[in-house]
Amino acid sequence: MVKVLAFAGSTRKGSFNQAILDIAVQGARSAGADVTVINLADYPMPLFNQDEEADQGIHENAQAFKTLLTAHDGFLIASPEYNSSYPALLKNVIDWASRSAEGEKPMQAFKGKVAAIMASSPGALGGLRVLVPLRMLLENIGTLVLPNQRAIANVHTLMDDNGQISDARTVQQLQGLAVELVETLQKLKSK
Ligand SMILES: Cc1cc2nc3c(=O)[nH]c(=O)nc-3n(C[C@H](O)[C@H](O)[C@H](O)COP(=O)(O)O)c2cc1C
Repeated sequence: MVKVLAFAGSTRKGSFNQAILDIAVQGARSAGADVTVINLADYPMPLFNQDEEADQGIHENAQAFKTLLTAHDGFLIASPEYNSSYPALLKNVIDWASRSAEGEKPMQAFKGKVAAIMASSPGALGGLRVLVPLRMLLENIGTLVLPNQRAIANVHTLMDDNGQISDARTVQQLQGLAVELVETLQKLKSK
């Protein structure tokens, strides 16, 4: 069974990106993946500073996050768009996870992995612009990013009273992306 780690680049209560991630997770599970969903709020870590890393080593929550990434075949990532790019939260956890402890292979958390990326925003572009630098970042550290991606515009209009995505077309799009990730991983794993 392929293993997928799912996380959003927002720890905001009522995060739209967590909401779209939840739908994608349903799709990945329906396609047969073993999906682990984490909230980055459970992995607080300082802003990366190389001097502190030299003094104190890799922060324990960064190491825990990296261990999780390493243990999974692929990633579902939903990111907010902050000023046309990724939020510091997401870049910070990726920077930490890119650091190697003694005995670890360089970029072991990211190399050979496959990711599906998505964004959402109350705005008209749906966070489309964050997907460009996020794709570039992930590919530069060894993660293959699916050509397909999703940017969900006006996301606040697509939800029910419980804060879940209820718009059928959006659900289908997000689940379809996740199914594509799982099918890609299944093909790669069967080789
Ligand atoms: C610092 C900051 C910058 C933002 N920049 C953008 C932006 O460039 N494009 C956009 O569509 N929304 C932007 N937003 C609005 C976010 O899309 C909105 O806050 C969204 O709810 C964040 O995602 P979340 O609900 O998952 O936390 C920005 C919000 C903040 C706090």
